[in-house]
Amino acid sequence: RKKITLNSLRSMYKKGEPITMITAHDFPSGHVGDAAGMDMVLVGDSLAMVALGMDDTSEVLVEEMLLHCRSVSRAAKTAFTVGDLPMGSYEVSPEQALETAIRFIKQGRVQSIKLEGGAEMAPTIKKITTAGIPVLGHVGLTPQRQNSLGGFRVQGKTAAGAMKVLEDALAIQEAGCFAMVLEAVPQEVAALITKKLSVPTIGIGAGNGCSGQVLVQIDMTGNFPPGRFLPKFVKKYGDVWSESLKAIESYREETKSRAYPAPEHTYPIPKDELEVFQL
Ligand code: KIV
Ligand code: NA
Repeated sequence: RKKITLNSLRSMYKKGEPITMITAHDFPSGHVGDAAGMDMVLVGDSLAMVALGMDDTSEVLVEEMLLHCRSVSRAAKTAFTVGDLPMGSYEVSPEQALETAIRFIKQGRVQSIKLEGGAEMAPTIKKITTAGIPVLGHVGLTPQRQNSLGGFRVQGKTAAGAMKVLEDALAIQEAGCFAMVLEAVPQEVAALITKKLSVPTIGIGAGNGCSGQVLVQIDMTGNFPPGRFLPKFVKKYGDVWSESLKAIESYREETKSRAYPAPEHTYPIPKDELEVFQL
């Protein structure tokens, strides 16, 4: 398979073929997403919480995002890569945002960047796209603004709220986004917004009327201990945590009982050499 480009995404969108995106945060998670045929791989700032154990995404630094972007980019032979600009690295001015976006391209080695926000971010998106860096927008629930939104709350649940999401979507499309994430909005609202746009919507918690879907890999593969809260929209397709736990427990038991390592896991030495050594 060939590397996915903006043209490939565009032609999927035109054909009505859903676009698939998954997050990744290191070489193995990028590799498996790529091997599974994902169209896009996102190094999301959800990394802060699911991979670095931070309380929220506002803590993660540009330098930290860049290290993870580089690792994922090395693995993504086919998937189109996106790096998520962390909170604080793009809101000050369009100039600040462009400088950060350039670092993501040069040091993160991703093909595009994502940033959160609606109409107020239009000049910023225009600045970055004009410099030749593709921008994936993100409207609806924007987790970096959780404090001012009053938490992780569904957006567009009233007519006025839905109109606001639509206006934001239209504004960032006009500013040059090649696509946008639509997070946590009612299915009917997301479907209507998708119809009104001429660029793809990548839904998360936005129903099946979007042009594509994105999920956080650690969530959808079940790579977390039992009891963790999962948003309603996450479908757990696997149980990676249990698999890892079983494997490590077996290794522990076999080490304690000396069943591991078995002869086939050891290196031979010729008998005559051993005899000399043992003298
Ligand atoms: O950070 C992230 O993983 C995201 C996706 C859920 C869209 O922004
Ligand atoms: Na994010």
